Amino acid sequence: MTTEAIPESDAAPADEGSTRDAVGDPADALVDPKAETEEELNPVAAPPPPSARQPVSRPMRTHSGRVRSGETSLRPFEGDEGVETAMHEAVRREEAVVSVEGFSLWYGAKRALFDVSMPVPKGKVTALVGPSGCGKSTLLRSVNRLNDLIDEVRFEGDMKLNGDSIYGPSVDVIELRKRMGIVFQKSNPFPMSIFENVIYPLRIDGVRDKKLLAEVCERALKGAALWDEVKDRLDESGLGLSGGQQQRLCIARAIAAEPEVLLMDEPCSALDPIATGKIEDLIDELRGEYTILMVTHNMQQAARTSDYTAFMYLGRLIEFGPTSDVFQRPIRRETEDYLTGRYG
Ligand SMILES: Nc1ncnc2c1ncn2[C@@H]1O[C@H](COP(=O)(O)OP(=O)(O)O)[C@@H](O)[C@H]1O
Ligand SMILES: [Mg+2]
Repeated sequence: MTTEAIPESDAAPADEGSTRDAVGDPADALVDPKAETEEELNPVAAPPPPSARQPVSRPMRTHSGRVRSGETSLRPFEGDEGVETAMHEAVRREEAVVSVEGFSLWYGAKRALFDVSMPVPKGKVTALVGPSGCGKSTLLRSVNRLNDLIDEVRFEGDMKLNGDSIYGPSVDVIELRKRMGIVFQKSNPFPMSIFENVIYPLRIDGVRDKKLLAEVCERALKGAALWDEVKDRLDESGLGLSGGQQQRLCIARAIAAEPEVLLMDEPCSALDPIATGKIEDLIDELRGEYTILMVTHNMQQAARTSDYTAFMYLGRLIEFGPTSDVFQRPIRRETEDYLTGRYG
């Protein structure tokens, strides 16, 4: 995947951006109606240094490639207004492991997701990006039906896991969750040995075959790039590992049951750069064998690790496509403005 266009130091409009004041800037409405060259029409993701960051006038392309002029993307949506997701063509050619189908979710009176539809392509890493509070975690947790645990949650629409309804009336949620692995921002090893942590999903399924459990443990720890570091101390507590090792232990536990999809919510945000690098390498190795849906607010991480990027804003899925295209040739103006740090 190409990352050259995104300078390490600068491309991330972190959640806590100070660029919100760009919202609604009247300069946004000024576009060059004569823009015709590929460069003018295809905004490039590489942003200028912060000091040089000024609102830039650009034409807006619709997802059909048409140039719209005189519009600003930086606006709140009104009421229940939906958006038509700019779905890149390449997405449609992928086989979906999870498909989100017109999914909306409310926390009490607050609506957090607006009619989101997207596939999660098989064997690929899909990054969910967007400003803080835009609904990334809500969408991710909804795949695993973790939001069911919250009072006053209401939803519409459905999701499917390899064709099986996730929200259908007769779904056995416990069985459904066994088909998915989930890894959170803060690692959560259980207060038990490394070995027991890893094989936990099999234990709760009643597996007792010692040889099988040992094999699964070794395979999962190797898969999570942790085996060499812990193979001589499998009986020690998982809580004694470093933060980065604990997160890889949680990934080992998540893959021990060979899930159909692996969900990760900002798995590196509590880790130092070295531990983060190891998790990113690991995600790279899991690609192909596993289907990964990962929330990140770190744009370089999305660029480095993902095959596909879904950009969300205010509960809507604005754009979804191959990561290199979304970063370098975004279809929607909102995507470009976010990636270039114009709002956080
Ligand atoms: N348990 C909850 N109860 C009420 N509102 C919530 C809850 N969790 C999230 N929200 C709200 O839903 C919106 C989306 O949140 P979230 O999915 O956590 O966003 P993100 O992960 O993109 O930062 C936010 O406005 C947030 O305040
Ligand atoms: Mg979140």
